[in-house]
Amino acid sequence: MKTLIRNGTLVTASDTYPADLLIDGEKIALVGTDLPAGDARVIDAKGKFVLPGGIDAHTHLDLPFGGTVASDDFYTGHKAAAFGGTTCHIDFVIQGKGETLHQAVENWHKKSDRKAAVDYGFHLAITDLNDKVLDEIPSMGREGVTSLKLFMAYKGSLQVDDTTLFKALVKSADAGMLVMVHAENGDAIDVLVKDAVSKGRLTPEWHALTRPDWAEAEATMRAVSLAGVAGAPLYVVHVTCAKAVDQIAYGRARGLKVMGETCTQYFFFSVDDLRRPDGAKWVCSPPVRSHADNEALWAAVKNDTLQTVATDHCPFFFDGTREMMYEGKPVKFAGKELGGGNFSKIPNGVPGIEDRMPILWTHGVGKGRMSMNRLVELCCTNPAKIFGLYPRKGTLAAGADADVVIWDPNLRRKMGVQTSHQRTDYNLYEGWDVTGMPEKVFVRGRLLVDGETWHGEPGSGAWLKRSTNGAVL
Ligand code: URP
Ligand code: ZN
Ligand code: ZN
Repeated sequence: MKTLIRNGTLVTASDTYPADLLIDGEKIALVGTDLPAGDARVIDAKGKFVLPGGIDAHTHLDLPFGGTVASDDFYTGHKAAAFGGTTCHIDFVIQGKGETLHQAVENWHKKSDRKAAVDYGFHLAITDLNDKVLDEIPSMGREGVTSLKLFMAYKGSLQVDDTTLFKALVKSADAGMLVMVHAENGDAIDVLVKDAVSKGRLTPEWHALTRPDWAEAEATMRAVSLAGVAGAPLYVVHVTCAKAVDQIAYGRARGLKVMGETCTQYFFFSVDDLRRPDGAKWVCSPPVRSHADNEALWAAVKNDTLQTVATDHCPFFFDGTREMMYEGKPVKFAGKELGGGNFSKIPNGVPGIEDRMPILWTHGVGKGRMSMNRLVELCCTNPAKIFGLYPRKGTLAAGADADVVIWDPNLRRKMGVQTSHQRTDYNLYEGWDVTGMPEKVFVRGRLLVDGETWHGEPGSGAWLKRSTNGAVL
């Protein structure tokens, strides 16, 4: 099956230009002017932009967490991703205690393979490192799981010590793999949380007050320094604040191979949102911080201290005692109500896989904070380069997978649960107006989203074996 997208304006990380784009089967066959249609179906994209599909490098679908499970699985999360212009994501496999890395990856394949509707890869979060597991790391890289995550927070569950982090850095650098860190000082946070709870300080704002920005800055600098000692590349996930940005800038200025990501929500929200009556909706870690930090993040993606914008999509219901309808069926998952008036028991995480590109288009590009090309770079091209998917994914070029978004810059939408495909009962951007949305979304040449119509199917998405030695940007 061939598809010719005619008269559009192509936007890549480096260029904006009028061109036609021919899809043949799963691949982009040609980019050029006045391409002949032949037997191809023709789509007129006059007045529209043509973007590479978004890549969300940080998601948690079907993740068991905080006594429940993230409410989007590998089908519903993929449907939501596609409607938001994201055609590929990388999810975190979590190694259970005592598990081998291969067992952990196998568990995640069981969750995903028959449900996937868009393409996806895996990072691997190590929570229990012994010598056998250490020796398994290079084989994971060879098998296409080329990035590891280490949690420096969540004491007593996911958190690892510095020995584990350092060993993982050395081993993965040898194997051409990339270590990612959740950088917060979990020990200090644990003391602060216990103290707050003992004093009856239980409202959601205490989630932020017990996880201060210095705890993120300290862990970020520690990880940057250990990467320097190991001579290893490092990627800091979900950076939230000016102080952490400073540590990444410090390492980069000294020639270290340090990169960083922020997530959409950290550009907009603050501790003030946690103070709302429904503040539990904003409980994620690290926490939303201050308006000055929001601004510092806009600056950091502009000046390239941070190289990617992801979502950390990890949705929980706000009120998991009530059903909602999804694809005509009632669904219900325990969620934020598990906090029961105690911030330390609220499941950590927020939805956003569908919201990222439209929100960044309106509030980033539309407000002059970034160019269209930088949006594509942050949301599509850089994640592909860093995580070993480029040039198969992340750009519009002959030979690349035909992951293509026809973007209508004039399409308006009121964000919210009613217009969203994320399987959760709230939306962080409820009632926000956006201008600029995907109109058609192709994954490897298949039209998955056509306006309001969904053509995706469970099992049609492909798991991606990623390359080692991704780019250090
Ligand atoms: O609150 C969050 N971010 N939940 C997901 C797990 C993580 O730390 O990334
Ligand atoms: Zn994290
Ligand atoms: Zn995460």
